[in-house]
Amino acid sequence: MRQYNALINNKLIDNGQWLEIINPATLTVAGKVSALSAKDINDAFKVARKAQKAWEEKTLLDRINALKKFRDLIDQNKQEISKIISEEIAKNLKESLAEVVRTIEIIDYTFEEAKRIEPSAFTGEGMGAQNKIGIFSRVAKGVVLAISPFNYPFNLALAKIIPALVMGNTVVFKPATAGSLVGTFLSKLVIESNLPKGIFNIVTGRGREIGDIITSNPEIDMISFTGSVGIGNQIRKNGSTTDLVLELGGKDPALVLDDLNLDKYCDEIINGAFGYSGQRCTAVKRVLVSNKIADKLVPLLKAKLESLSVGMPKDNAFITPVIDEKSADFIQTLIDDAKEKGAKIVTGDKRKKNLMWPTLIDNVTLDMKVAWEEPFGPVLPIIRIDSIEEMIEISNNSQFGLQASIFCQDISKAIQTAKKIKTGTVNINSKPSRGPDSFPFLGIKDSGEGVQGIRESLLSMTRYMGLVINY
Ligand code: NAP
Ligand code: G3H
Repeated sequence: MRQYNALINNKLIDNGQWLEIINPATLTVAGKVSALSAKDINDAFKVARKAQKAWEEKTLLDRINALKKFRDLIDQNKQEISKIISEEIAKNLKESLAEVVRTIEIIDYTFEEAKRIEPSAFTGEGMGAQNKIGIFSRVAKGVVLAISPFNYPFNLALAKIIPALVMGNTVVFKPATAGSLVGTFLSKLVIESNLPKGIFNIVTGRGREIGDIITSNPEIDMISFTGSVGIGNQIRKNGSTTDLVLELGGKDPALVLDDLNLDKYCDEIINGAFGYSGQRCTAVKRVLVSNKIADKLVPLLKAKLESLSVGMPKDNAFITPVIDEKSADFIQTLIDDAKEKGAKIVTGDKRKKNLMWPTLIDNVTLDMKVAWEEPFGPVLPIIRIDSIEEMIEISNNSQFGLQASIFCQDISKAIQTAKKIKTGTVNINSKPSRGPDSFPFLGIKDSGEGVQGIRESLLSMTRYMGLVINY
């Protein structure tokens, strides 16, 4: 069984308290991680504060060079890291490895992009201020708290940690409990790569027990959080004087406007809705389509869905168990509510504990919960609507505003529709997606605050520092 420690000031923490991590595929214990006390957590922030000045005073190049060994150790350990991801979140082995490789690519690009963040220079002449030059550089914010969700436990953690460190911040990292094994596996790599003490600290424990203690620590200069709307809003309250970047939930609609390339649309919709069993913020979570097209779309979706493999992550099944039985119970309530209110189950609605067969629900109406709520599981509602105006209205009548997809061969019609959709991003003829990771990634309304993506993360982890020269 795996047993990994939290990390404070490059020391592995063993306070005698452990948290069991359950393998969602076998429902047995996958391993244990440290369960930290309030004192341990305060220590982590204190050392992060103490280490920050010296770290920031290094040149950008020195910081990147110091982090390169850490990056190389991730590369050397990528098979083991992907095994851990697969064991603790039931992501299939192939996708787990893809998550690690994607993370390495993000790290490499971050190293390069940081060098392209140049100061801005101004003269005061336009305002009548002669003999003044202003040089505005980006400098570190200080101590960054990074909190990651379970569904991309490695990628979404390092996509925050690396830009923070590169720009001269120090970090306290809190992984999701399901995701703490891979989070604390990093403890070993931080020590082996000889990173300066205190710049990268890893704190573990259940969010509901230590979350408030972590997020209200006075040493925090910035919180970068990815997770649910509920916890995001709680953090907004606790961290009211702290800079925040929040990436939260979604209810991404796919609007199907024609049937000119239906086979391709269906592939995008299936991958978008059911990849990692629907546990992606950017999953397609509702399809809006007219009756005429729906009669062709639904049978095609059904056939493709029924060909997906359902089973265990070690066998690389496409659909694997959702993160725990509580989540499966919640997903089931959405299916049952739709059934009770007259929706038609096209396929699926079968379950063994937390392994849920991919479920397609047709004739979903607006009084059903599945039309509005985020299942975070393998369920896709089809809402039949007659006009594009209505599709736009229903898309926008949502608390969420992460992404949307429009499927349409008439590019003018697609762009005109996209411009009316209120989400951070609209994808034309592809599934919603966070990548390419060099693009800005953002949610509006309840889906988030601030922007991620490689360059945007580097910028959000810094503030301007102005130097005005009078001559
Ligand atoms: P979650 O339950 O909100 O947990 C996210 C993180 O917050 C975990 O590390 C969790 O720790 C921690 N946490 C829990 N309670 C806390 C508290 N009171 N204070 C501070 N931190 C606390 O979300 P999840 O179930 O891991 O992830 C699924 C959700 O994340 C979905 O809604 C999904 O849409 C969203 N998501 C959004 C994006 C995006 O970029 N927009 C990306 C991925 C996921 P514990 O695990 O110990 O509770
Ligand atoms: O779960 C939310 C992730 O940020 C989505 O990333 O679109 O690459 O799957 P993805």
